[in-house]
Amino acid sequence: MGLTIALNRGRILKECLPLLKKAGIEPAEDIDSSRKLVFQSTKGNHRLVIMRGSDVPTYVEYGAADLGIVGKDTLLEYGSASGFYERLDLGIGACRLMTAAPKGVSLDKRSLTVATKFVNITRDYFERQGRQVSIIALSGALEIAPLMNLADCIVDIVDTGNTLKANGLEALEVITRISSRLIVNRASMKTRFDEVEAFIALLKAAL
Ligand code: PRP
Repeated sequence: MGLTIALNRGRILKECLPLLKKAGIEPAEDIDSSRKLVFQSTKGNHRLVIMRGSDVPTYVEYGAADLGIVGKDTLLEYGSASGFYERLDLGIGACRLMTAAPKGVSLDKRSLTVATKFVNITRDYFERQGRQVSIIALSGALEIAPLMNLADCIVDIVDTGNTLKANGLEALEVITRISSRLIVNRASMKTRFDEVEAFIALLKAAL
């Protein structure tokens, strides 16, 4: 049995498959046209497991997956973990985590309500600014929250900025720059050292 690799479905997966292919790791079936979630690799007998990004750190932390590819936003939101190491910045999935609000709206008011999927990052960010905010946790389509008067502003991922623009919002402050990272389970790092290092070397060469 090769290594088990947890992959963040969606945008990151799209960019990560060509990188894995370049490193010689390819799924035996076409991921896009299948409803399956677990794929064997053509070489190396690795297992590629497709899942929601927020679950990747959990699978790797508990050792259900040896490795994971996931956005830095997800890792920051997950918080400190003793079960895995962040080993490589893959440079893919590059975007920014930003505050955004309806065009022309001032955020100087005293009590600010912020809608986000990134509750922990948002709390830390405003705390560092010495600003008290109410945070409303949502799981997607954050852009509509200010339009529906649920929140004054949002904290979300911005790539091209098109989603914000299409919904009458403007990006304000960059909280942090994001890219996808390779994480490695702490125990796998010891017990499967050679295989893990060989995998990392292949990915590094493909970057
Ligand atoms: C992200 C984010 C925005 C969009 C920004 O969502 O939440 O909605 O991308 O991209 P843009 O600046 O290029 O318009 P994503 O499509 O990753 O889906 P998600 O809501 O499931 O995270």
